[in-house]
Amino acid sequence: MKKRVFSGTRATGRLHLGNYLGAVKGYLELQDNPDYETIYMVMDLHAITTPYDKEKLAENTRNVVMDYLACGLDPEKSIITAQSLVPEHTYLAHILSSEITVARMQHLPTFKEKVKQHPDHVTMALLNYPVLMAADILLYKASLVPVGIDQEPHLEVAREIGRHMNEKFGTDFPEPKRFVTKGEYVPSLTGEGKMSKSVEGSFISLTDGSETIKKKLSGAPTDSGRGEKVPEKGGVANLLQLVELFEGLENRKKYEEQYLGDGIRYGELKAELAEFIFKELEPIQKQRKVYENDPSLVDRIIREGAEKARVIAGETMKEVRNKIGLIK
Ligand code: TRP
Repeated sequence: MKKRVFSGTRATGRLHLGNYLGAVKGYLELQDNPDYETIYMVMDLHAITTPYDKEKLAENTRNVVMDYLACGLDPEKSIITAQSLVPEHTYLAHILSSEITVARMQHLPTFKEKVKQHPDHVTMALLNYPVLMAADILLYKASLVPVGIDQEPHLEVAREIGRHMNEKFGTDFPEPKRFVTKGEYVPSLTGEGKMSKSVEGSFISLTDGSETIKKKLSGAPTDSGRGEKVPEKGGVANLLQLVELFEGLENRKKYEEQYLGDGIRYGELKAELAEFIFKELEPIQKQRKVYENDPSLVDRIIREGAEKARVIAGETMKEVRNKIGLIK
């Protein structure tokens, strides 16, 4: 039997370069590997665990699906849909929530961070976020999950719950492992931390044109361009990391030598980098237009994806219901 892969992105807006390199490229690699059956969703039920705009939720969900498709996710090869269209996710999440403690959830770093961000919105759904994520993965008995390293604590919860279910009820959930992609840490343009949708000025969107990319890069902080040691942190380090990701290691080395020698001219570096980034995004933007112009095609992909997902999900739920002793 083929191994299963599950992953998803919260439906909080459009994808950016960080999502593309850190996650979607991994999705693509696994989609094209015949050893795996791949399932990729837009996590709209996770999106509503923090404050959101009900007028935009469905649109955001469709936008991420279109970004997926434009990047090369293929409904012939992968199941592509929205989480909320497969009600078994919440059904299983409820059952799994009986198998883990409130204390364990409260101590997760991701939970604490969200509490700080939204102190007036510490809801049951937020606390249960990792349990719903465990359900997403276990529902398909997925063994591989392409996600960023920041999701490792959530994956550990999924492994713990799966193990616990197997021991207590005799289910056969495999241990989900993280699939690591090369661009999993895409640095922010602000010189601090990683690219993030929620930090203004930190990211380049997949839909940015060449002028916008240039403008965004021109705002990235730099220094005098030379020194005794190439910086390992901050704006320059981040720019060099982007050079490596988009232009390759050779070009990074070229700039490092300049830094230690005559100095880097950042204007030129940024112009060159902008071109490399745009070259990678241009075909994605062209492909996206095709889907933007055909909304009924996108609807059909989402609907058919949900139908396929529900077949697998239904089998798991039948088994789980039996094993945990619910009425036949
Ligand atoms: N928590 C993930 C994130 O923020 C999104 C997500 C929800 C997910 N359920 C998942 C990722 C299941 C992988 C598998 O990126």
